[in-house]
Amino acid sequence: MEEKIPVLELENVSVGYDSQAGMVQAVNDVSLTIYENSIVGLIGESGSGKSTLGNAIMHLLKNNAVITNGEIKVMGKNIYSMGREELRRFRWSQMSMVFQSAMNALNPVLTIEEQFLDVFLSHNKNMSKKEARVKAAELMKIVSIDPAHLKSYPHELSGGMRQRVVIAIAIALDPKLVIMDEPTTALDVVVQRSILDKIKEIQKVKKFAILFISHDFSLVSELASRVAIMYAGRFVEITDSQSLSQSEQKHHPYTEGLMKAIPHLTADDVTIEGIPGNPPDLVELPSGCAYHPRCPYVHDRCMTERPAISKVVNREIECHLYEVVRKEVQKS
Ligand SMILES: Nc1ncnc2c1ncn2[C@@H]1O[C@H](COP(=O)(O)OP(=O)(O)OP(=O)(O)O)[C@@H](O)[C@H]1O
Ligand SMILES: [Mg+2]
Repeated sequence: MEEKIPVLELENVSVGYDSQAGMVQAVNDVSLTIYENSIVGLIGESGSGKSTLGNAIMHLLKNNAVITNGEIKVMGKNIYSMGREELRRFRWSQMSMVFQSAMNALNPVLTIEEQFLDVFLSHNKNMSKKEARVKAAELMKIVSIDPAHLKSYPHELSGGMRQRVVIAIAIALDPKLVIMDEPTTALDVVVQRSILDKIKEIQKVKKFAILFISHDFSLVSELASRVAIMYAGRFVEITDSQSLSQSEQKHHPYTEGLMKAIPHLTADDVTIEGIPGNPPDLVELPSGCAYHPRCPYVHDRCMTERPAISKVVNREIECHLYEVVRKEVQKS
């Protein structure tokens, strides 16, 4: 069998924010490997630590953030042992990110072409402006925008077009890993769909790996082959996305809650079933399993003991309920 090359390796990564209230444990001991040419989804409620993890991978955390534990490798290289110049070259050429609300992140006073040229010329001293312009036009075509818009300023484009430009800039240098943080959230459903299809189409051709961050469960399970489910800074489950559409599969109680929270949109049934309760305070996490105050299956042990990760056929679940299954798998 052909060996798969790991593009991203997270090993026991924890990230905290220093705040007046204390240390906010935004990412708490997560491990995950993403292989080349694959799409992995990262899903969880607001405040669960998704963007923090994305920014940590890019080495673009806020000043008050600290990586308190673990290692992050992209293409086998530890991001945090690189020098400034090495990191500058590595970013965008090997790994890039479409930031949350990125369509507002384009520089308003530069034309789209100038923003492409910035990326090309700052990474490639030998490239002429003319070559860079040709490449920029090619990228515009890839994301289905008329290259005539290279002369436009961001405000002259629609939200959907700006988002396509941001995606084009993220893939401009053919990175191996692209982190997409809620790339379609602010857009209407029709535009979302067309951008999603575009992302799929480009990924098929360019074969980069994607970490796709979203809180839209159905969207992620459609796009990604694997999905990590994040709750209070932890991966409570990592599973094949296929298993998310098989109703007989057992999941982490939080995953099950999210699955039920999908809006059911049929002609006479427009219901959304949410998960009762709120995510915990990340400064003072609940004891034991952080999900226990909201879990319908909670029992005494959940309140005192953090569950270990149970590895069951292509899936990892952090829940006491699955330890029995794990033991049986180990026996056989
Ligand atoms: N600079 C900061 N200082 C202190 N706390 C922060 C800072 N940035 C984020 N946080 C906190 O860290 C936690 C994780 O935030 P993060 O933005 O990573 O969540 P998220 O999953 O991306 O949420 P969303 O879905 O709303 O984008 C939240 O509790 C947030 O309030
Ligand atoms: Mg976020």
